[in-house]
Amino acid sequence: ATTATAQIGVTGLAVMGSNLARNFARHGHTVAVHNRTYAKTKALIEQHGHEGDFVPSETAEDFVASLQKPRRIVIMVKAGDATDAVIDEFAPLLDEGDVLIDGGNAHFEDTRRREKDLRDKGIHFVGAGISGGEEGALNGPSIMPGGSEESYKSLGPLLESIAAKAKDGSPCCTHVGPDGAGHFVKMVHNGIEYADMQLIAEAYDLLRAVGGYEPGRIAETFRTWNTGRLDSYLIEITAEVLAHTDAGTGRPFVDVVADEAEQKGTGRWTVQTALDLGVPVSGIAEAVFARSLSGHTGLREAARGLPGPSARALSPAEAEEFAAQVEQALYASKVVSYAQGWNMIAKASEEYGWDIDLGAMAAIWRGGCIIRAAFLDRIRAAFETDPQLSTLLADEGFAREVGQAQEAWRTVVATAVRHGVPTPGFSAALAYYDALRAERLPAALTQGQRDFFGAHTYRRTDREGSFHTLWSGDR
Ligand code: ATR
Repeated sequence: ATTATAQIGVTGLAVMGSNLARNFARHGHTVAVHNRTYAKTKALIEQHGHEGDFVPSETAEDFVASLQKPRRIVIMVKAGDATDAVIDEFAPLLDEGDVLIDGGNAHFEDTRRREKDLRDKGIHFVGAGISGGEEGALNGPSIMPGGSEESYKSLGPLLESIAAKAKDGSPCCTHVGPDGAGHFVKMVHNGIEYADMQLIAEAYDLLRAVGGYEPGRIAETFRTWNTGRLDSYLIEITAEVLAHTDAGTGRPFVDVVADEAEQKGTGRWTVQTALDLGVPVSGIAEAVFARSLSGHTGLREAARGLPGPSARALSPAEAEEFAAQVEQALYASKVVSYAQGWNMIAKASEEYGWDIDLGAMAAIWRGGCIIRAAFLDRIRAAFETDPQLSTLLADEGFAREVGQAQEAWRTVVATAVRHGVPTPGFSAALAYYDALRAERLPAALTQGQRDFFGAHTYRRTDREGSFHTLWSGDR
């Protein structure tokens, strides 16, 4: 019979699962490993068995038996039906108090459903967002576990031991909140990542088309930006990509890549969910739509000849000034898209009763994940100063910076429009900023129209109550 020696188990040993198991083992934990097809388990042990203490099992029963109680099992299979299949296989083998962790990219509503089903059986189900890709899984991801507080007591220290560490040494892992909270914030993290990437792409496009910079020069510009407030993993890799020359053709790598961006779906989920919550996340939405548009080759082909300006490069001196303005526009737009993302988390937290610590989310994204950046420490600090902060834009520091950047931001958007360079991210962010700070919005007219055609009524600025006007054109 198998003896129960393992502190944690991982089932599903494709790259993410294997790397996570190795990360646990390298941190001194005894790790039970299992995969539907035993070949993968065997391969892991053959290639990496020396890295730590692994307990391989061929069957689910042996795997479960090899785990100390309360058992903690991380499921690392393809999100969707496979996750349900694995849960159905394991649930009957588990005892009350055991913890099943889904480390895949599940939709938070699926996680809520699974958590409820398993809770009825006395099993803790933890939907854990894991960010950082294959490299992160092995060397330290950002981990966003949901589920019960009780489950985090036994699981938290294990996860924190393998998580990335922020510069101040704290682990990039915290209990996010009940049921689907972890997968929810992971989804928004990915949405913010889309927005960040789109804004960077627009900056590149402007520097190239309007600034007249070659990719190598733009790489240098990004490297310089990376020493300032934009310091982040995404800016860093952008410079790498732009500096890369295609070996076969000798051309800039970025020029030989088809200009059609793909997506796996978490950005789309973010926007769909934001629509349901009624929270404007225009930065993320524009980023998702920009990817969709890029893939509509037929549409683009049909529209290619439409009239409009072509970008003309500025003089070198003007270009240098313009590049500095683009940095400001990029920064201000980034603040807006993060502000929107945080509003979305805040709204969901309220709606689902998750009680998410907004500053802690910034703290656990400082390392390990794709959007890791110095910037996130600022967001953490902003919520530390005011946990009730209604928008990041109202934080004193961010308000000052965006205020200083806004003139350059407007110049960049206006220049883009004049040169016919599409900047949906920069433009939407600026429109959001102006809408928020407006004294009056034309929504008053919208209400008038709604009352006119549908008797939907309106509220007044000078009196309490609900009003309807008898319009002469009333039907
Ligand atoms: P890969 O990343 O290797 O292409 P995948 O299809 O994304 O594989 O699946 C990732 C992991 O989920 C694999 O460990 C896979 O198990 P197999 O190695 O046996 O294919 C696992 N997986 C997928 N569907 C599963 C299911 N219904 N039940 C159990 N494990 C499953």
